Amino acid sequence: MKRMLSGIKPTGQLHLGNYIGALSKFVEYQDEYEVIAFIANLHTITVYQEPKELQKNLKDCVALYLACGLDPNKTTIFLQTDVMEHAQLGFILCCNTYMGELNRMTQYKDKIAKDEKNISCGIFTYPTLMSADILIYDADFVPVGEDQKQHVELCRDVAIRFNNKFGNTFKVPEPLIPKVGARIMSLSDPTKKMSKSDETNKGCVYLLDNLKTARKKIMSAVTDSIGIVQYDPENQPGISNLMQIMSSLSDKSFEEITKEYEGKGYGDFKKDVANVVCDTLEKIQADYNEIINSNKIQEALDIGTKKAKEMASKKLNEVQIKVGIEIK
Ligand code: AMP
Ligand code: TRP
Repeated sequence: MKRMLSGIKPTGQLHLGNYIGALSKFVEYQDEYEVIAFIANLHTITVYQEPKELQKNLKDCVALYLACGLDPNKTTIFLQTDVMEHAQLGFILCCNTYMGELNRMTQYKDKIAKDEKNISCGIFTYPTLMSADILIYDADFVPVGEDQKQHVELCRDVAIRFNNKFGNTFKVPEPLIPKVGARIMSLSDPTKKMSKSDETNKGCVYLLDNLKTARKKIMSAVTDSIGIVQYDPENQPGISNLMQIMSSLSDKSFEEITKEYEGKGYGDFKKDVANVVCDTLEKIQADYNEIINSNKIQEALDIGTKKAKEMASKKLNEVQIKVGIEIK
């Protein structure tokens, strides 16, 4: 069985973009692949997080993984910090990655371009830790949204370099970008990604938003004056984004959606998008409410951590021997 691995940063609450671009895909994959879905809590603190809030988000994140349909007996779920081998391999990979490579990473460059003050070293070395997350499990595929593709490409380069230097050690992973839903856009500014750092709070539907709020956000989504429901991201980014949301949650193709709304206004279309979104959220929230105060979270983490540790410690050991930092 091919192995698929991905991580989510529990920065703020999970939103519809995370669900469509990542979580719902993992759920589909868990019967076909061996899925490892972990919580990248170390990556989270590359930017300061209020500790109490972070703790709550961590727990919510695991509960939402389960509520979205990840089955801990099929999918390995754990916290990055519970498998300390990630950080250790991260340092070893840091020593095999060049400053020039990290300088070219968009996520880091964006922060420099925005002239953000006090950018942490953690942001700079972020991709080497992410490479460790992936390579320590010999993952075949890494399903990520468009924004993370560059990091997976760096990971491939680092794996190839390491293999050439020290002998074949790591599997070189492939990024897997979903065709639909890889980039769900903000409802209030459809030229920007739907994101947890949405300042207005109107453009992002959170998985735990109350249904009335979620409906309101969809109904007030920015559209255009063309008046035709069709997929044209360049000229109709708002409508195209709503089509992506509807298509991902209902399995209707863009053609089917366009046909269905021919001659109808955007109001009808938005109402139906809101219905599909609210149906999805309602189900997730019902399961979340049942899980959040139960021992299901700890049980899932116990199973996942044990499996992950076993794989990771074996790999780290092999790496350390190859690099020469362990006495054989
Ligand atoms: P993040 O929330 O940035 O930690 O991302 C977690 C996962 O969700 C990654 O695989 C991202 O690529 C994916 N993701 C985040 N935002 C979006 C979005 N707006 N549309 C689609 N996928 C997203
Ligand atoms: N950097 C990813 C994000 O921001 C999260 C992440 C950390 C990740 N480690 C990973 C994703 C390994 C895939 C594989 O979304």
